[in-house]
Amino acid sequence: MSHKPTHATAVAHPNIALVKYWGKRDVERNIPAVGSLSITLDGLTTTTTVRFDPEFEHDVFLLGGCEAPKMAQRVVGCLDRMRRRAGVSMHAVVESENDFPTAAGLASSASGFAALVIAADAALGAGFDRSELADLARQASGSAARSLFGGFVELRLTPDGPYPTETRQLLEPRAWPLRILVAVTDPGPKAVGSTEGMLMTELTSPYYRDWVESSPADLLEARSAVERRDFEALADVSELSCLKMHAVMLSARPGLVYWNGTTVECIRRVRELRADGVAVFFTVDAGPQVKAVCLPEVYERVERELAAIPGVTSMVESRLGDGARVVEDRR
Ligand code: PMV
Repeated sequence: MSHKPTHATAVAHPNIALVKYWGKRDVERNIPAVGSLSITLDGLTTTTTVRFDPEFEHDVFLLGGCEAPKMAQRVVGCLDRMRRRAGVSMHAVVESENDFPTAAGLASSASGFAALVIAADAALGAGFDRSELADLARQASGSAARSLFGGFVELRLTPDGPYPTETRQLLEPRAWPLRILVAVTDPGPKAVGSTEGMLMTELTSPYYRDWVESSPADLLEARSAVERRDFEALADVSELSCLKMHAVMLSARPGLVYWNGTTVECIRRVRELRADGVAVFFTVDAGPQVKAVCLPEVYERVERELAAIPGVTSMVESRLGDGARVVEDRR
């Protein structure tokens, strides 16, 4: 294992959960309460360079060239776990950039930590396998393990396995080329962060246990729909999982209302389109943006319809993309 200055660069894309994760089984170890199923996006990219150097006295994290103290703490925590496992003590400078607006509600922490573990592993020459890297990413951000893989991805709880969760690709992106449109309804930062929101929900919602207990059936249904490439079945279970997650959020005390009026209008429009036979469904995360997932042939229609809704400030478009990977250095 090298203890000389060394660096590597990796790219990763955000992912969107169709069967949602909300709640922690173990807060300390960041183990999710439920499994999840997601699609990894293309086009929207986080690029991260990690430089280790025995001369560095502490870690530095720069996001878009600026210090980001809150995120820096989580980055250092992730690097510490990697250094411990690799038996290395060098500090690092981590430079990360997103080429997409964080306001789009496209969990930049997922692509950020996926790119970080891949770049740090390559820089250290640690040679961790994908399962170990997924475990390291999951400890930093529950959804980040999913961005290590492309296309359709499942994160399962595996309490008896070598790691508490296991993440794997169900279908590669080109096997079922769905399209994604994000209708941005409010570019401001979200009111309550996901970890805080999850803990509040667990502590106060009378429906939390039902949410957790009903999740495995949704996962099974979604996995089967993906394997059969059955759009209607995937649409049904994805909308169900999304609405159930928001129902449990709303039933926390105080209730977590992540939506605004335009969010509701977008959902209504997508449902009308679907009822008219247009192959599209919606999903919404811990924020007010609406993500529409559709077949390529209806993509332009869906875009036109959502962009015309008053209150939609911009649209972000994407296809399905690949998992996190090392790239040539940017400089
Ligand atoms: O990975 P976190 O802690 O940002 O939580 C993600 C939570 C949701 O985006 C709402 C759902 C999910 O599974 O991605």
